[in-house]
Amino acid sequence: MKKYSIYPIEDMGIFEQYRKARDVFWTPNSIDYSRDDYDSLDEPEKEMVKKILFFFANADTLVADNILDNFMKLDLPSEANLFLAYQIMNENIHAETYGDAIESYISSLELKEEAYHAIEGSDIVANKLKWMEKWVNSNDSVNSLLAFILVESIFFSSTFATIFWMKKLEYPLQGFFKGNKEILRDEVSHYEFSTYCWNKYYKNALDKNYIIEAVIEAVNIECNYIDYIVTSTVKSIDPLRLKKYVKHVANIVLSRMGYEHIFPNEETDHNLRFMDELGIQSTVNFFEITSDNYTKVSGNISFDNF
Ligand SMILES: [Fe+2]
Ligand SMILES: [Fe+2]
Repeated sequence: MKKYSIYPIEDMGIFEQYRKARDVFWTPNSIDYSRDDYDSLDEPEKEMVKKILFFFANADTLVADNILDNFMKLDLPSEANLFLAYQIMNENIHAETYGDAIESYISSLELKEEAYHAIEGSDIVANKLKWMEKWVNSNDSVNSLLAFILVESIFFSSTFATIFWMKKLEYPLQGFFKGNKEILRDEVSHYEFSTYCWNKYYKNALDKNYIIEAVIEAVNIECNYIDYIVTSTVKSIDPLRLKKYVKHVANIVLSRMGYEHIFPNEETDHNLRFMDELGIQSTVNFFEITSDNYTKVSGNISFDNF
């Protein structure tokens, strides 16, 4: 039994995921917001981006707290700690990147205060963050792992889809898009890691109906969030398609965990083509990728082209 060394490796699958994630390390210094023209956006779109930033400026550090408070206590091979320690740094980098966007786009001190204390509000963003915080404070590692899977997939799905929909429409936010592309790639690796650990070490730890209820709850929160950020005054993005996309992602997550789809085909949408153009893979939705597919692209892909 090793005490301090990295070798010998107990779970090569986890170790490989750690190495893949680590090999694409980046920092907020590579994101330049100076040419983004947030002020030129119409008021509804500005408001939408602001709400997205309010959520993300807090969500990533919440995930990092959850890792510290709960996941480090899970009974996983020691390689998991390598991944999780790296992920904590990843999440802090994400939070800093969103914080930089807020500092660059928003001048009002009052609004910035609101952004950095978004969880203390009473709107839908606060509700979503509070749902996440509830799991962090639950001190139940297995429940936390389940919530973590749902956050890294369902809770991020509509936000990333909205951001890359805006990119497709050529909104003048190139720095923002570049940062989110880096972040999305990291989030996919976190999702891959968490579902891998779930399937290998905790597959039967919770009742199937309990898991399905948690998925439905997460989907409902996400759909409310879509209504809140993509209001009827936002003309360029269709909230109905986003909701269908969220249900598609929920189906994918369930099948990844070994369960059948719960949302019928007509209620889902996997044809948000701009999501394919992220380069993580070409024909399937990014949450559908397997570890093998991710291996193929993660070392080679150039994100500079986007
Ligand atoms: Fe993150
Ligand atoms: Fe993450």
